[in-house]
Amino acid sequence: MLRGLSQVSRAIPARWLYDERGSELFDAITRLQSYYPTRTETALLERIMPEIAARVGPGRAVVEFGAGSLTKTPILLEAVKPALYVPIDISGDYLRASAAELAVKLPHLPIHPVEGNFGNSLELPAEAAPLPKLGFFPGSTIGNFVPRSATDLLRHFRETLGTGALLLIGMDRVKPVERLIAAYDDAEGVTAAFNCNLLTRINRELAGTIPLDAFRHEARWNDILSRIEMHLVATRDVDFSVEGRPFRFAGGSSIHTENSHKYGPRGGRMLLLAGGWTPLAEWTDHARDFAVVLAEAQPHRFAP
Ligand code: AVJ
Repeated sequence: MLRGLSQVSRAIPARWLYDERGSELFDAITRLQSYYPTRTETALLERIMPEIAARVGPGRAVVEFGAGSLTKTPILLEAVKPALYVPIDISGDYLRASAAELAVKLPHLPIHPVEGNFGNSLELPAEAAPLPKLGFFPGSTIGNFVPRSATDLLRHFRETLGTGALLLIGMDRVKPVERLIAAYDDAEGVTAAFNCNLLTRINRELAGTIPLDAFRHEARWNDILSRIEMHLVATRDVDFSVEGRPFRFAGGSSIHTENSHKYGPRGGRMLLLAGGWTPLAEWTDHARDFAVVLAEAQPHRFAP
């Protein structure tokens, strides 16, 4: 956090938004009328799951990158009838709690959580080794990563899952700016509270003295980079300290706190290809607001 605050263009990695309060606020965001991604992807997954199950077949190890949502994950697990479910998350507490809740819903499914950073190549539990794999990365979380990091992440998924694995991934689509802004700057002010919570967290965890009224939430569409950016914009010139280090923000300057990249159909599939995943099939909702892609880690070939 400190490093990001000190660079010329000030930015803090988005993962710092998700402390306990931040995770609660994100949960509230997913229920907002103007925040379309969660409900659109959930309904889409429900509709297309018979087709996915037919393509994927039973008996796989389903590996989810992130601890999993209790609404989306059961839709997949109930349909594809895996032999094993492996959720991977950096927060061991969150991982165990969500695995325990899932075990109630699916009492016959073996669950082997892995505590770790899914951004690295990880060792799967030995029970997964003989099984064909299906990776699951819903929520358009891939959109949080700049394309260069996103391709690194996809390559790590490929290393973790191995050649021949399948990946089911959710990607948010480009759409009119008004709808994107409404989704990331909702009238209820929940996203603003989510963003501003980062300042509260800095004050609490890093002995910060940031006056909370000196920053406001802003959602910007960056067209050339095809992404929504969240910023905390200084409403006036402001001085504060964090861990004893002084910072000065001129009114109008900002801290960049999150990116949410949006992809067109070809751009999204090209990103997957660049990360080592060959798209096999793609589904969208009727308004084409959100896409789910099934891709395969095909063996490398040395000629076209
Ligand atoms: C969790 C990264 C998918 O980018 O839409 C929602 C996070 N930030 N509103 C997104 C988020 C503000 C969300 N992801």
